[in-house]
Amino acid sequence: MSAGERDAKAKVTTARLIEMKAAGEPIVMVTAYDYPTAQIAEEAGVDIVLVGDSAANCVLGYESTVPIEMDEMLMLARAVRRGLDRPMLIGDLPFGSYEASNELAVANAQRMVKEAGCDAVKLEGGGQSAERAAAIANSGIPVMGHVGLTPQTATALGGMKAQGKTAEQAVRVAVDAAALEKAGCFSIVFEAIPEAVAELIAHRLTVPTIGIGAGNATDGQVLVMHDLAGLNTGPMAKFVKRFADARGEILSGVEKYAAEVRSGSFPAAEHVYSVEPRELEGLRHRLEEGALDSSYSSDWDSLG
Ligand code: KIV
Repeated sequence: MSAGERDAKAKVTTARLIEMKAAGEPIVMVTAYDYPTAQIAEEAGVDIVLVGDSAANCVLGYESTVPIEMDEMLMLARAVRRGLDRPMLIGDLPFGSYEASNELAVANAQRMVKEAGCDAVKLEGGGQSAERAAAIANSGIPVMGHVGLTPQTATALGGMKAQGKTAEQAVRVAVDAAALEKAGCFSIVFEAIPEAVAELIAHRLTVPTIGIGAGNATDGQVLVMHDLAGLNTGPMAKFVKRFADARGEILSGVEKYAAEVRSGSFPAAEHVYSVEPRELEGLRHRLEEGALDSSYSSDWDSLG
């Protein structure tokens, strides 16, 4: 077996990501929130699967990522775990699950690992989040950082818009990224940052960087499964590319099903179970003898 074939089968670890960065091999990351999409990510050979808090919008119908709870994230992460083998599985720590104290951050990171089988966790922001990241990393759980547009605190950033477009903002992104690296994060997501800014910052870091709306200078890319597969509707961020039309495919399937039920052409002969004529005759006979009447009456009797 060649080294390439071995790598294609081996589980993705933090060490493997460092090797990929060193070799200039792009890291492919995608979100998943359930068993079938986890299986699809596995089969497609991606390197990292994130159970993102974007599940709040994509599968739970919330308006932002803020309301999703730790228990909801755990339920989704457990389903993804069951569908995944080779890729690294990262559980996103939702808003409110890590900010208040290092103890809270470590306890919830441990839940992601212990209760959902995640290999690592992700949290958003620099500053105090870097301190939380250090506490989690020191407890033995690998942590991924996330800088630039951090949707959990988008209101404080002026909305869901690109970050680092002024020198001052870009310095803040760079400071956050450096603090997360120093805190022990094994990798950092750059979201919605001009490509040239991402390049300047990424080149000053030693850990692998994963971009979403940060151009080509990062060591890998991440997209939300429901965006890339065309399951989400409505306006998309500039950085989203739809690689498939899963919603259109599913919609057309459900429409065809509804039409066939209404026309009576489904179910057809091949979808129907058969029964021996002798058994059917036996049933008819028993019904005529009143089998149903007596069982009904005994049920009524028992109700008094
Ligand atoms: O929740 C999410 O999907 C994310 C990615 C955009 C990185 O955090």
